[in-house]
Amino acid sequence: MSDLQNNNVVFFSGETTPLEMHKARMVQRIYLRDVEKRREIINAAGNNTFLLPNRDVFLDMLTDSGVNAMSEAQYAAMMLADDSYAGSETYYRLEKTVQDFFGFKYFLPAHQGRACENILAIAYVKPGQTVITNYHFTTTKGHITRVGGQVLEAVGEEALKTVSDNPFKGNFDLALLDQQVTETGVDNVSFVRIEAGTNLIGGQPISLANMREVSAYCRKKGLKLVYDASLLADNLYFIKTREKEAFDKSLKELVLEIASLMDIIYFSGRKLGCARGGGISMTHEEDYLRMRDLVPMFEGFLTYGGMSVREMEAMAVGIRETLDFHVISQTPIFVEALGQELIKKNVPVVTPLGGLGCHVDAGRFAPHIPQDQYPSGALAAAIYITGGIRGMERGTLSEQRAPDGSERFSPMELVRLAVPKRVFTLSQMKFVADRLGWLYENRDLVGGLVFVDEPKTLRFFLGRLKPVGDWQERLVAAFKRDMPSGL
Ligand SMILES: Cc1ncc(COP(=O)(O)O)c(C=O)c1O
Repeated sequence: MSDLQNNNVVFFSGETTPLEMHKARMVQRIYLRDVEKRREIINAAGNNTFLLPNRDVFLDMLTDSGVNAMSEAQYAAMMLADDSYAGSETYYRLEKTVQDFFGFKYFLPAHQGRACENILAIAYVKPGQTVITNYHFTTTKGHITRVGGQVLEAVGEEALKTVSDNPFKGNFDLALLDQQVTETGVDNVSFVRIEAGTNLIGGQPISLANMREVSAYCRKKGLKLVYDASLLADNLYFIKTREKEAFDKSLKELVLEIASLMDIIYFSGRKLGCARGGGISMTHEEDYLRMRDLVPMFEGFLTYGGMSVREMEAMAVGIRETLDFHVISQTPIFVEALGQELIKKNVPVVTPLGGLGCHVDAGRFAPHIPQDQYPSGALAAAIYITGGIRGMERGTLSEQRAPDGSERFSPMELVRLAVPKRVFTLSQMKFVADRLGWLYENRDLVGGLVFVDEPKTLRFFLGRLKPVGDWQERLVAAFKRDMPSGL
């Protein structure tokens, strides 16, 4: 258990308080605007938190992607970057890091996670084919469907329940996987994809035991197994702390064991590695060759793949730091701290509390908002008005419409409050819980949204909406009644 030692510090008072084993040496000033101003700002942003300027955001909980705090070793490594188009030392350092980390021989660089998905989709998904995954991610599905494929999900039923005590809600239901493979036909399955730390269902992990079973199944059937390791750090934390067989294994042993179950591993370096980039690693030469030529075509030459060398250096250090238990625990223990505060205030959140962030259950928070008025989007706008807090809609708005133009209602309506690593303080988390607690008490005031400009693909990124009726004005008035300073 030596990896865990830094987090074994207990408080004499018995409190469970996350204790940081790092200190902040560089900070960024942030501003909390007045509530009336916040209402104007969110409307100018089309009630879409993606369109908010950062200067108007107090606590940016949109994502952890590319915004985790970097370590001093990462900044130092950036100074060593070797800037050349071809054959830079920086590339070889990154390649060696990824090879050592996953134990695979081959590596291809790409500018971020979705770029890896683009390459995988082009290389492996033929029109009419199917990719089976525990749960889809927005950009993954976007790329697969763009080339004419479809996505099936094989998580267990529990995964879509927002209240649960299942420690591994990201697990595959093996019987369902087998049924989907049988119905689709092995030859029509492009690959099976495992997503670590399943993003869209609340940052829920998949167990080592389950991955072993999925891998054995895929090998028996001759199916390629692809691992999206973007959220590996959080998932690793949960394996290490929740799965008995992992208690005595080092993080390095666990990563190598997970990798040994896969054929191809890709990742967003904005998440794994706490920098900005991505890459695909593989064990078979034929997979390397199948994807290799797509890198210079879409990303950049093979020794930078669209990334800046400084980011590549930082990413290499960040990937190695994933083997430090203190580093990987930072998001989950802060999510736990925030989640417990929210639960105390009756705010409905996805349980068990997962990685990535706290996921507020808009379905239970605002059941009076019909799904075609985007309850999660509306709640995200209301949360910004209430506290200058920027979360992310993860519900029906994040879905694509069906080919006939009808809405595809998401099985879960969530607002994700991401907790990037080492960025926030506990007092800021208390502020979030306080403001959400207030909003929950005034939840009847939150109304729906309607599109005024709806992009055809990935509409949640750039779509613009307006409130249905005057609920935002009434929300501001109630806020000023209770918090006369308007802050
Ligand atoms: C599980 C997962 N896969 C892929 C991606 C895409 O990565 P990127 O944002 O670097 O394109 C993300 C990003 O959030 C993710 O969470």
